[in-house]
Amino acid sequence: MDTLTVQELRERYQRFFEVRGHRPIPSASLLPENDASVLFTTAGMHPLAPYLLGETHPLGNRLVDVQRCIRTGDIDEVGDPSHLTFFEMLGNWSLGDYFKRESLAWSYEFLTQELHLDPAQLAVTVFAGDADAPRDDESAQIWLSLGIPAERIHFLPKEDNWWGPVGNAGPCGPDSEIFFDTGRPDHPGCRPGCGCGKWLEIWNNVFMAYRKTAQGDLVKLSHANVDTGMGLERTIAVINGFDDVYRIDTLAPLIAQLESLTGYAYAEPQHTRPFRIVVDHIRAATFAIADGALPGNVEAGYIVRRLIRRAIRYGYDLGIRQPFCAQMAKTVVQLLDDAYPILGQRRVVIANELTCEETRFKATLERGLHEYRKLIERVRRVGTPMISGESAFDLYETFGFPLPLTLELAREDGLRVDENRFEALLIEHKETSRRGAAQKFKGGLQDQSEQTTRLHTATHLLHTALRQVLGASVRQMGSNITPERLRFDFSYPEALSDAQLREVERLVNEEIMRDDAISYTVMPPAQAIESGALAFFGAKYGDMVKVYSIGAFSREVCGGPHATRTGELGRLTIIKQEAVGQGVRRIRAVIGV
Ligand code: SER
Repeated sequence: MDTLTVQELRERYQRFFEVRGHRPIPSASLLPENDASVLFTTAGMHPLAPYLLGETHPLGNRLVDVQRCIRTGDIDEVGDPSHLTFFEMLGNWSLGDYFKRESLAWSYEFLTQELHLDPAQLAVTVFAGDADAPRDDESAQIWLSLGIPAERIHFLPKEDNWWGPVGNAGPCGPDSEIFFDTGRPDHPGCRPGCGCGKWLEIWNNVFMAYRKTAQGDLVKLSHANVDTGMGLERTIAVINGFDDVYRIDTLAPLIAQLESLTGYAYAEPQHTRPFRIVVDHIRAATFAIADGALPGNVEAGYIVRRLIRRAIRYGYDLGIRQPFCAQMAKTVVQLLDDAYPILGQRRVVIANELTCEETRFKATLERGLHEYRKLIERVRRVGTPMISGESAFDLYETFGFPLPLTLELAREDGLRVDENRFEALLIEHKETSRRGAAQKFKGGLQDQSEQTTRLHTATHLLHTALRQVLGASVRQMGSNITPERLRFDFSYPEALSDAQLREVERLVNEEIMRDDAISYTVMPPAQAIESGALAFFGAKYGDMVKVYSIGAFSREVCGGPHATRTGELGRLTIIKQEAVGQGVRRIRAVIGV
C-alpha cells in the first residue's frame, strides 16, 4: 500500500464525518480563551466545553475537527516511540445528538473500511462501572455486534476508562478506547492500557453524559454528548506500518535535519531517545510561541521555556554547540503551515524568541559552569571523592545547570555524583510543584458557575469601554477567568492614567446599571464583522458564528455562555493594571463588590 500522508488522513477523516452530517470547525488556539483550568488546550473537547455543557453551537450538533494540542503531563515519556507533547487530535462530536451506537459503529467503519486496518489487530476497553456510573454493557454489546470478540473487550475502572473533567469541574463521562496491536511480544497480564507498548491507544470515544461541579458532585447532563479523539500521529504511523511515530511525514524531516546537524544516525540506539526529545520539544515550542505563549517564568511561558531548554540540553548531549532551535523551527513551519497558517504568520516571532532563549540559556550554562568550579574547589578542600546530591540539585535548580553536564564534568575531574540523592530531591521538588499547580488552576469556564459566566460577560464590557476611552485600535489579546477575578489583555502602547482607568470603570458600571438584556444571533463571520461586531483576537471561525449583543453597548463574536442581563454582574472594580509585553497591557478586575 502507498504511504498515507498526514494531510490525506485529515481530509479523509473530515470527509467521512461530513458525509454523516458533521460540520467542520477550525482548530482553536493552543492557549485556552477565557479559561484558567489548563495552561494549554490538551484535547479537542477543551474549546468546546461550553457547548458540551448545553450552549447552542452555531453550526449545529454534529461537528468534526482537527485540534492542535499540547500535553506536558507525559513529558517524561517523550523519547519512547509513541509519546508526543504536541500532537494533532481528530475529533467528531455529538452535542446531544447521536450516542454510543453511531459513535462506535462509525469509529469501527472508519478504521476498518476507510483505513483498511485489520480488525484482528484491534482491541477495545469499556468502563467497568462504580458507585458513580454503571458498567458500560451497552458499549460492550455494540462492540460484539460489530465483530470484536469478547476476549478483546476489556472492562476497566475509572483510572482507565473515564474522561474528564479538565481541571476540577466540567463535562466528563465513561469512555471506550480503541487499541492497535503493534505485534510486540505479549507478557502475563498484558492488556490494552498496560503501558508495555504492545497495545497502542489510537482513538477514544467519550460518552459525556455528566458534569462534575466545583463542589465535586457528579450531575447528569440534560443532553448526552459524544467527544471522540483520535491521535493523528499514532494513527498515521499504524496505517503505514511504522513502529515509531517519528517516521511519519510531519516528523521524519526533523529527525533527518538533526542527523545532519549532529552527524549521528537516529537509528543508533544511544541517540534515538535524545533525537526524539529534541524534535518533539522544538515542534511543541514552535506551536506554543505561534499561539502567543512566549518563553517566560510563569504558567504557559514557563512550560515553553522548559521545552526549549530541554531541547537545548539534549542537543548539547548530542554534541551541538551552535544555536539550532530557530533552524529546526523553520522546518516545523514548512511542514505544518498549510494546516496551521498561524505558523507562517508568526515565523519571525518564532525565530526571534527561540534565538533569544538559546542565548539566555547559554549565559545560564556559563553561570552554572562558574558555580560548578567554585563547588569543585570546596569539594577538593574537604577531600571527598563525591559531589553531594544537594550540591548537584542546587546547580540544577538555582542555576539551571543540567545533571548530565554535572556528571560529565565530574567524570573529567575524577569525582562521582550522588545521583540517587539528586533523583530523590528532584521527585520531591516535582511533587511540590505539581501540588502547587493543581491548587492554582481551579475554576475557569469549564465549571460554568454563574460567577465565571458573569466575569466572562464583564470582559465584553471592558473591551468596549477600553475602546471608547483609548480608541478603536485597542484589541483584546487574551483573557483568563477564575471564579475570583478576571484578567484581560489588550493592545495599547502605554500605561493608562488613573483618570482613564476610572473612566473605563465608570462606563462599564453605567452599562451594568442599565440592566440591559444579553442575547445572541447566529450568522456567517463576514456578516458579523460587517455588522460591526468585534471579532476575537487571532481566532479562526467556522462557517457560522454567534454574535453576542449586550444592549446597544457591545457586539462581539463569541461562543458564550453569558449572563442574561448586565444587572446580574454587580459593580466592576479594576484592581490592577500592568504591562505583559511590548504593546500589551493587562487589567485585573473583580465584580459584585
Ligand atoms: N477528550 C478525549 C481525549 O482527549 C477524547 O477526545 O482522549
